[in-house]
Parts: sequence; structure tokens; C-alpha cells
Amino acid sequence: MSVYFQKTHQRSFGTYPLKGGELRDAMLIAAEVGYRAFDTAQMYENEKDTGDALKETGLAREELFVTTKVNVANFDESRFLASVEQSLKDLQLDQVDVLLLHWPPADGDIAPSLKLLDQARARGLTRDIGVSNYTVKMMREARALIEAPIVTNQVEFHPLLNQDKLLAAAVETGIPLSSYCSVARGKVFEYPLFGQIGEAYGKSAAQIVLRWILQKGVSINTMSTKRKNIEANFDVMDFTLSNIDMARIDAMTATGYRIVGKDLVPFAPDFD
Ligand SMILES: NC(=O)c1ccc[n+]([C@@H]2O[C@H](COP(=O)([O-])OP(=O)(O)OC[C@H]3O[C@@H](n4cnc5c(N)ncnc54)[C@H](OP(=O)(O)O)[C@@H]3O)[C@@H](O)[C@H]2O)c1
Repeated sequence: MSVYFQKTHQRSFGTYPLKGGELRDAMLIAAEVGYRAFDTAQMYENEKDTGDALKETGLAREELFVTTKVNVANFDESRFLASVEQSLKDLQLDQVDVLLLHWPPADGDIAPSLKLLDQARARGLTRDIGVSNYTVKMMREARALIEAPIVTNQVEFHPLLNQDKLLAAAVETGIPLSSYCSVARGKVFEYPLFGQIGEAYGKSAAQIVLRWILQKGVSINTMSTKRKNIEANFDVMDFTLSNIDMARIDAMTATGYRIVGKDLVPFAPDFD
């Protein structure tokens, strides 16, 4: 069974765009609150700071669940594995738990980078492999190309964006989704519905949003620098949204608010 089904791993602490002391402080709070899964990337230029903070938590390696992502700039055969070795050195780990391809390549040909990713797994540099920002078509292609389980496609996922096509592809391909921009970088708070629903459960708007994501079968990544928010984001396992409330939130996806698209990342694929 995928490790993503473990309770602590369904809630991952994202590290972007934090660095240095700010990252350290946030990660130490997150670990204290109960987070065991941490998400970084070569592109974030904070793997060394993340490694230092992980060490400072004093948590045993087997308790931690660390994800990093290979930068598209390192997809070349001459750089890929060396870049992952550098990530491990910076993270001060022998192996990460999941290694993701951060983005599909600009030309859309996913086969070469997926094969290199699988080589990294075969060499023991990572326990599992995954992808990020893949379209439905790419999820299908990836499933056909690689025999090892692909444990996640990490994508933008929040109630202001309809990702039903990706959800259907997750069921079809067996590649589970995980979220980023889970609270739409704060945009969800402009809509009163989440707070209104929260009143019935004794939960905040953010907690309602995160619970909705979990109940869609998607594991969550959240980032916060504030203890109160870090605690709230972790405290989402003791209630269940009713089918009616799920449907009310589903209706919000018609908003069509995408944060990470071509204007932010020019080489982003044509998302479904
Ligand atoms: N794979 C990819 O391409 C990709 C792209 C983007 C992000 N990511 C990953 O996903 C993680 C999360 O995404 P994100 O940070 O972009 O977006 P996010 O989690 O939607 O938003 C983070 C922002 O929301 C605020 N926030 C968080 N929890 C809150 C709460 N309970 N109440 C009020 N405000 C709250 C935080 O501010 P405060 O600090 O004030 O709480 C922070 O500014 C990143 O850190 C990164 O690891 C991956």
C-alpha cells in the first residue's frame, strides 16, 4: 500500500519559498505539531536548510518522510543522477522517500526523464518515485512507460479549481494526486462559504478546505510560517465533511482560479 495512505504522510509540510532561519523555525514548529512529511525541491534552493532543520528536529530517519524534486534543468542524462546525489548530500540523507520530476519537460516528451528517475530509484537514491504537474495524457503515458509504482502526481489542487479530469485519471492510472497551493495561497479566504461551513464543525475555513482535499482522495501539502496556522493545517483528521458540504464546496471549483499556469511558469504544459 502506498505510504501516502499513512495518516501523517497525508499531511506534508511544504517548504517553498522559505529559506534560512524562517524555514528552520517553521519546520521545527511543524515537527513539534506532528508533521513527519516534508516537501522540498532542487528549484527551491533550500535543500541544505531543510536538511539542517530535519537534523535539528531530532526525529529518527524512519519517522520522517522526505520528498524532493528534480529541476527540469537537470533532466539531461549527464546531470540527472549527479543532481540527485547533490540533493541527498544537502539533505544529509542516504535516500529520499519520494523523488519527483518537478515539471514535465517543455517539449512534452516525458520518456527520457522518467527513465532517469527510475534509474535513481534502482540505484537506491529514492525509495519511491513520482511526478508533478503532469496532465492526464502524461499520467497515462507514464503509467505505460514505468513498471515501478508512481506514488503521486503533485498538482495545484484547491476548491477554486476544477481538477475532476486529473481525479479521474488518478483512479484510471492508479497514480494518486497530492496537492500544492492547497489554500490557493490565501485566495480561498475571500470566499465566505468555507468559514460558514466551518461553523457547523467547529473548524476554520482553512481546515474545511484541507479536509475537502483529503476527502477527494488527495494528500495535502501546506506551508505556513505561523504556529497557529501550522497547527490548524495539521488538525484535520477528527471530523468528516458531509456529502452535502462536499458538494457545496465542489460547486466552488467553477471559479476556475489557477495560480501556477503559463504566466508564472512559461514551460507549463497545457493543463486539462
Ligand atoms: N510541485 C510544484 O510545482 C509546487 C508548486 C508550488 C508549491 N509547491 C509545494 O506546495 C507547498 C504549498 O503550496 P504553497 O505554499 O504554494 O501554497 P499554499 O499552501 O496554498 O499557501 C501558503 C500561504 O498560505 C498561508 N496559509 C497557510 N495556512 C494558512 C491558514 N491555516 N490560515 C491562513 N493562511 C494560511 C501562508 O501564510 P502564513 O505563513 O502567514 O501562514 C502562506 O502564505 C509549497 O510550500 C511547496 O512545497 C509545489
